[in-house]
Formats: sequence, structure tokens, C-alpha cells
Amino acid sequence: MITSKELREKWIKFYEERGHVNIGAVSLIGDGTTGVMFNVAGMQPLMPYLLGKKHPMGTKLCNVQGCVRTVDIDSVGDATHFTFFEMMGNWSLGDYFKKDKTKWSFELLTEVFGFDKEKICSTVFEGNESVPRDEETASYLKELGIKPENIFYLDKSNNWWELEGTVGTPCGPDNEWFYPRHDNPCCDKCDVNCDCGRYVEIGNDVYMQYKKLEGGKYTELENKNVDTGFGLDRLLLFLNGLDDGYKTDLFIGAIEHLEKASGVKYGTDEKMTKAMRIVADHTRTAVMLIGDRNGILPSNTGAGYILRRLLRRAIRYCKNLGIEATEMCEVAKIFIEKIYDEAYPLLVEKEGYILDEITKEIKKFESTLASGLKEFEKCVTGMERKNAFMSQKDPAYVPETEISGKQAFRLYDTFGYPLELTVELAEERGLTVDQNGFNEAFKAHQELSKAQAQAAKGGLTEQSETTIKYHTATHIMLAGLRKMFGTGTEQKGSNITEERLRFDFNCDHKMTAEELSELEKFVNDVINKGIDVVKTELPYSKAVEEGAYGVFTAESNDQIVSIYTIEGVDKQICGGPHVKNTKELGEFKIKKEESSSGGVRRIKAILR
Ligand code: ALA
Repeated sequence: MITSKELREKWIKFYEERGHVNIGAVSLIGDGTTGVMFNVAGMQPLMPYLLGKKHPMGTKLCNVQGCVRTVDIDSVGDATHFTFFEMMGNWSLGDYFKKDKTKWSFELLTEVFGFDKEKICSTVFEGNESVPRDEETASYLKELGIKPENIFYLDKSNNWWELEGTVGTPCGPDNEWFYPRHDNPCCDKCDVNCDCGRYVEIGNDVYMQYKKLEGGKYTELENKNVDTGFGLDRLLLFLNGLDDGYKTDLFIGAIEHLEKASGVKYGTDEKMTKAMRIVADHTRTAVMLIGDRNGILPSNTGAGYILRRLLRRAIRYCKNLGIEATEMCEVAKIFIEKIYDEAYPLLVEKEGYILDEITKEIKKFESTLASGLKEFEKCVTGMERKNAFMSQKDPAYVPETEISGKQAFRLYDTFGYPLELTVELAEERGLTVDQNGFNEAFKAHQELSKAQAQAAKGGLTEQSETTIKYHTATHIMLAGLRKMFGTGTEQKGSNITEERLRFDFNCDHKMTAEELSELEKFVNDVINKGIDVVKTELPYSKAVEEGAYGVFTAESNDQIVSIYTIEGVDKQICGGPHVKNTKELGEFKIKKEESSSGGVRRIKAILR
């Protein structure tokens, strides 16, 4: 048995012995500069260096980096998906390339971890019109002793690595390492391409020598870099001959606690097993996000909204397990005190705070949940009664099995039920929800409130050129504030007239003269750079994944929202309108900074 602590150590030691410097991990929360909300890959903080900037620690680096990926949150509940995981990485910034990298990965796998070289499989890029077939890597792999029949040439969808939805980021062909979990092929063609699950990807060496441009084009980078990522959670499972990530030392304590609390044995009942995995996974990620050095709290926008969703989903699954949601705090304690105490000592320091915040969210959600559940039951009983009555009258009657969009909207609007919650509850009863109907009801409601708001303003509906400019200026200013004070800084109020902008935001101190002039300079620099303000539209969940934020709560993850991007500066979910290019704003001048209310500061500024 190898433990997670040993595995981290082995990784670092191996690369340190080969001249790498351990650069440690950065915060899980995006710093706003890369446009993503969470750190999703070990390479993300190294992006500027992969693009050519000189790294202060040298050209050979390694670390173990926490990552949060919530795109496939719905897959969590199976044996191998997690919303938080650690990526063990190492990098060459224009230093060594394919020859050394293949050798070291091979050595690590065979000599340190004891993988059988006869069974190791490797996939390389088959090439396309812009990038040649990776014969070089393949030849090194063969020299090392990997069987030629275990080397596969695959296309761009498999053997090319880039951060989705970004431009200006480093990328390139990769060499992925696979290993079979057992020796019983499912058929004659059971190789790395087979989806029976026998072969598992254990790591990825990316040869990052390209930069991604607009329109799917690539340009060669000055440096030939290597970016390696091996998932710790995944490798741990594999090295211990397990088929379930929740059985590794990272999770076993949490699972055992949930078994004790619920009286259910893990693995005996599919639904209960899924519930335990979800509670354990989501609690772990919540601990990491709250306890991070740039920690966040549950809220209705941006990263805070994702955290809220994770916590609320875990709370719901506690109910399914028949345990109090406060058991999540016990699970959190196990992660903090026993599992991540050495790798993440800050969690231990912040333990009281983390547990308090989880408890607060549990309380908030429980009151919402209880009253909404009653309403939900009413909908279902109403439907059942109607079905029984109608079937009696007409034997050909087809019973209803769908909760209407209006009902789902009422649950949302009056009881704070996210649509996904209603859908999950409905599924448990064998019912569906009319999601389009929900979106329509939502839109109708939005239009109504807009009309009401406009009426209240006395018909003041048109936005002038000047107010549009001020609106864009608030975006840039908020980006500057977030850069200076962290991404926890949010808009708390905004009021724009023809003469000025007035903007409220959370901040724990009176801004100093230096801070004000730094902010002014930031805004004016962005204006002078003449950056386009680009509008795009995406489903809400996708927008959030891509790092967009804003004072806005979507009614469903599928709701289409508009995003205004000032490349390299800001990405906000916002109704607009905005100017086309920042240079239209002129000069930005702060007139006043004052308190607005407790913990909230107010800036008045003009454009001239
Ligand atoms: N950046 C590569 C990955 O995430 C190593 O798989």
C-alpha cells in the first residue's frame, strides 16, 4: 500500500534528483488574469513562463498542484470522478525535451512505481496539416523498451492538449501513458482505444511548443517546453490495485465516517454508495475552496455560486443517506486533520472558520429546503390525484409524469430551489421537469420585472452614450479592484448618471491615496491600450466555468447569458450595453472614495 503522502514525496524527490526545483502550489482560486475561475491544471499558473517569460526558479520545475474542475460535476458519484484533485507536475521551460522526458517518465513508472514495461502503453500524436506525426517521441519510447504494438498514433482529439475556450495560451501534442487494470481483455481489439475501462490513463506529457491563436490557428513558440501532469488521486488508486478512488487513503476515513453515521455499508447499495461519494467529494472541495489562501464563501455569483452548489448538493445527499447534514463537518474535520494536514497546513489553521462557514450554509439551505419540499410534494400529489381520477374516467388516459415549467419556476422563485434540485427530486420519483417551460416562465418573469422597473423609473429606458461609457468604466474599475484586493471583491451597488459613476464594492479598509492612484492608472492604461469589448453568449454554467463573473444569478445553468470580455482584463456576465473599444472612454478620474456601509466602500469617478 502506498499512501498519498508517500506518493507526493516520491514525485518531488524523483524530479528534484533530476535537477528540478519544487515551486509549491498556488491558490485554487483563479487570480483573474487567466480568465478562469479555478485552477484547472497544474500548468495554468505557469502559462506566462510557457509562453516565454523567464521563471525566477529556473527552467526545470516541479510541484503537486490542487485543481478544481466542476464541468463534469454530474459524473461525480462514480468511482473515478472528483471535483478536486491534485496534479503532480513537472516542467521544462525551453530546457530538456522529448528524449529526457520520455526517459524520466518511463523510469519513474517502471523503477519507482514498479509498472511492468511489457504492459505500458503510450499514445502519441498522429500529425495533421500543421504539426507532423510524432515519430520522434515514438522512437524514444521504443528505445526504452516499450513494445511497438503498445504505441498508438492518435488524432488531435486524443493527443493534443490545450485549455479549452482560450486563445493566446500554450499548447501542443502530447504523449499519454496508459496501463491495463487487469489482464483480461474484453475482446480481440481490447487496447487503449477500447471503452471497456481496462486501460486507464495514468499521465500526460505535453510538448508545449505552440501558441493557440484566434480561429483555431497555432503559431510556434520560441521555447520548446514540456508540461507533465499525473493525477495523484488516479495514480494512487492504480498503485494500490484498487478500482475505486474512494477506497484510497484520501477518502477512506470520510467514507468510514459516513458508514458509521448512516449504518449503511459502502458498496452494498448503489444509491447509497453514490450518495456517500458525493458527500465526501463535495465536502472535500468545499473545504479546499473555503480554506484556500484566497478562500471564497458561498454566494449567488461566480465562484461562490459554484461553492454553494457543491455544498447544497452534498447537504441533499446527506438527507438521502438519512444523516444530519452537520455530519459534513465531521467529514471536513477528517480531511483537514488527518489527510491534508501536511500538504495543506493552512486548512488546519483555518479549521474553525471552515467548519463555521459550512454550518452556516447548512442552516441557510435547510430552511429553504424544508419549505420547498412541502411545495414539491403538493405538486406531485396533485399530479397523482389527477392521474388516478382521469384514468378511472378514461382507460386510454396517459398519466402525466412531468412537473410543469411553471411549478418548477414557483419552486425557484418562492423557495429558492435551483432548477437542478427540482430535476433531481423529480428523477427520484420517476418524473421529469419541463425545463423549457421553466426557462420560458423565467424569461416572462424577467421581462415583467424589467417593465416594472422601467415604469418605476418614469420611462427612463434609453441609455445615452455617456452612461454606456460609464458602465464600461465600472467593469474596468472592478477588474482593477479585484486585481488589487482579490477576486472576493464584488460589486455591491452601482449608480450611473450623465455626470459620473458611483460604484460600491466590499473592502475592509479606506483606500489609501496610493491605492487610488494605482486604480486610476490601471483604468487609464486599459483605456489607452484600446482593447475591444467583445460580447459573447453562453449558457450560464459554461460562462461561469470560463471565468465570467458578475452580480447576476442565473435561474438555470442552461440559461443563455451575455458576457462582455475585455481581453486580458475582465470577463463579466452583464446585460450591457457597452462601448466597442476601451479607447472610447477618454480619461478616467476618481473624485471621491468614502464609506457606503459596513465593509462597503464607494467610489465616485468621472470620464473626461
Ligand atoms: N496540462 C496537462 C494536463 O492537464 C498535463 O493533462
